[in-house]
Amino acid sequence: MTHRKTANSAGDTSSRPLPDIKPQTPIATLDRSKHRGSAQLLRLEQVAPAVGMSVSFIRKVLGTSGNQVTPDQVITLLDQDAFGETYLRRSQVLDHLMAAAERDSETGGEAALPAGDPVQLLLGDAQAMLGTFRPGSIDCVVTSTPYWGMRVYKSSHFVEWADGEVCPYGHEQTPEGFLRHTAQLLAALKPAVAADGSVWWNVMDSYNTRTQIRGNAAEALRAMQGLDQRAWADHESRRYSAGHVYAKDGEQVLIPGRIAERASRLGYYVKSVITWAKPYTTPEPQKSRVSRSLEYVLHLSKQRTPKFNREAYRQLPPSLGGRNTLLETDKLSDVWHLATSSGIGGHGAQFPLSLPARCIGLSTNVGDVVLDPFVGSGNTGVAARSLGRKFVGIDVSPEYLTQAEESIGMVGESAFGSFEREQVKLVQAEQHGTNVL
Ligand SMILES: C[S@@+](CC[C@H](N)C(=O)[O-])C[C@H]1O[C@@H](n2cnc3c(N)ncnc32)[C@H](O)[C@@H]1O
Repeated sequence: MTHRKTANSAGDTSSRPLPDIKPQTPIATLDRSKHRGSAQLLRLEQVAPAVGMSVSFIRKVLGTSGNQVTPDQVITLLDQDAFGETYLRRSQVLDHLMAAAERDSETGGEAALPAGDPVQLLLGDAQAMLGTFRPGSIDCVVTSTPYWGMRVYKSSHFVEWADGEVCPYGHEQTPEGFLRHTAQLLAALKPAVAADGSVWWNVMDSYNTRTQIRGNAAEALRAMQGLDQRAWADHESRRYSAGHVYAKDGEQVLIPGRIAERASRLGYYVKSVITWAKPYTTPEPQKSRVSRSLEYVLHLSKQRTPKFNREAYRQLPPSLGGRNTLLETDKLSDVWHLATSSGIGGHGAQFPLSLPARCIGLSTNVGDVVLDPFVGSGNTGVAARSLGRKFVGIDVSPEYLTQAEESIGMVGESAFGSFEREQVKLVQAEQHGTNVL
């Protein structure tokens, strides 16, 4: 297993105080005259995700069959659909594309990951690292990202995002910032995913409420029971609801569906928005609404028919994502009844092993490469190795990576039954690969 430290985009800033989540959005306007008449040619493959339109639509609108467009043509595109942003505000798109064109002419950086080892754990910022993967080298991505405004993790890494915000992922001023940053990650990831690959993106919705941000559900529960003596100001980070463009205090902000829409604008196929029905969830004391007991898993693909093995649902043991015979029928539907994680190991935001295992079983073959860019305690790696797949995991926290390394290292000797046991060959940590990062 390779475990190494890699480059971070904004340096290791874990000692920097976490910002409060407090909408204070400056006005942003498009300067139409700045690049007017410029002869700079911009690559369509970069323009399409930035304006959130398909290449075929762009060609139709502009009446062109080429692979490059001018800044004036980008303004025409922005005027077609003034609100459809992906990872940038509309007012930032032209400057961003012009800067990218300049960088393109200066650099010829070579993508290098993954480097061949069956398991690689990489310490660093996912956003900075996703561009270092060889095109088409990842067969499947399964991840559970930080959710918006929900948790303080062990290491907070400040990321410099393309829209100009500098904050740890999940600590954006607004849900819209979180959507832009999620779209930036999905855009960076897309070239690395194999043509028949799948991306499984686990995310939960958030409420726009005034609250303290805590480390895990147990802490939140203690607070509900009146056992947290800390005052408002004593918390590491707080979320303020006042100041949002339209979302009111106490309103659900509908993040998962909006991520799905942006993924579609980036060129992914939204195959399914899966509901993960959880048997146990943190109690919610609100008196004016029902309690939540679900999360979402977005299944995204690059082509209409990604690799998909429906039979895995019938063949795998329930602990590895096979049918939950008590609550699920033989039909593999978009409502998944999977146990909530026991939380053993202390990560605080773990998903159960059965969730990544089901995604991996459905969309990969033995020997394929699975990536989790927010690996946490390592359950995606445990699932991947238990099913005989290769695994690459990324996290900013050395503590979580060590936990992941231990859990994945146990796979070779754990009792997952006889299913594909002979394919599970764990490579020891000292067998480093030739990864150039
Ligand atoms: C929801 S947790 C993942 C939990 C994981 N699925 C599990 O079962 O344990 C999100 C993880 O993302 C990591 N993280 C946060 N910001 C990151 C970044 N910019 N790059 C990489 N990892 C990051 C956190 O340290 C945390 O472990």
